[in-house]
Amino acid sequence: MTSPSAVYGDLTTQGASSNIAWHHTSVDRAARAQQRGHRSAILWFTGLSGAGKSTLANAVNSALFERGLSCYVLDGDNVRHGLCKDLGFSDAAREENIRRIGEVSKLFLDAGVVVLTAFVSPFKADRDKARALVDAGDFIEIHCAADLAVCETRDTKGLYAKARAGEIKEFTGISSPYEAPEAPELRVDTGSQTLEESVEQVLAYLSAEGVIPQAG
Ligand code: ADX
Repeated sequence: MTSPSAVYGDLTTQGASSNIAWHHTSVDRAARAQQRGHRSAILWFTGLSGAGKSTLANAVNSALFERGLSCYVLDGDNVRHGLCKDLGFSDAAREENIRRIGEVSKLFLDAGVVVLTAFVSPFKADRDKARALVDAGDFIEIHCAADLAVCETRDTKGLYAKARAGEIKEFTGISSPYEAPEAPELRVDTGSQTLEESVEQVLAYLSAEGVIPQAG
């Protein structure tokens, strides 16, 4: 696929860095946190297709919502229907996908929202760039660590079978690499734990880190 910068280069060079100042807003992140009673954060779920990222992110989102927190899920399959519908699955396209999600997540962070991202995000360098956009402690990397054999057995979308048959090129885990996080804030064994156990593990971490108010 043609790289986005090749496509949009003549548009972006007109204004990307020069002649644009940062506009400070009068309602800042701290004011939002005070009004809402909780701080914002990026919960970055990463893992193979079928590892349970979307399922876990949605279940955690529901739990946070029930507690009255402002929260929102950005999901790979959904975002690729809109914001990133021009992107495929080459290394460069995934890099651009994750770059956009990192920037959007940063805006959500500023908006006072706990944003949960569910993207394969297979490359360590791309995840680290997203992490580097925000302050330490604001980016919580959660590895949904179901291994390839489990994900392929589940094959909830039938994509592994297609990838094995050569009908999908550059499929993560089959014909494109997945670089597992070496030191994520949290590793969740979505291959063997129940969804409830995984949700509890994430909530306990968020509570211990002061992202969400202590239960009880
Ligand atoms: S990422 O690699 O750029 O982070 P993203 O999470 O947005 O990927 O999209 C992954 C989803 O797209 C998978 O869950 C799967 O449903 C679908 N998909 C389609 N083709 C591929 C592919 N070649 N590799 C991985 N996922 C794919």
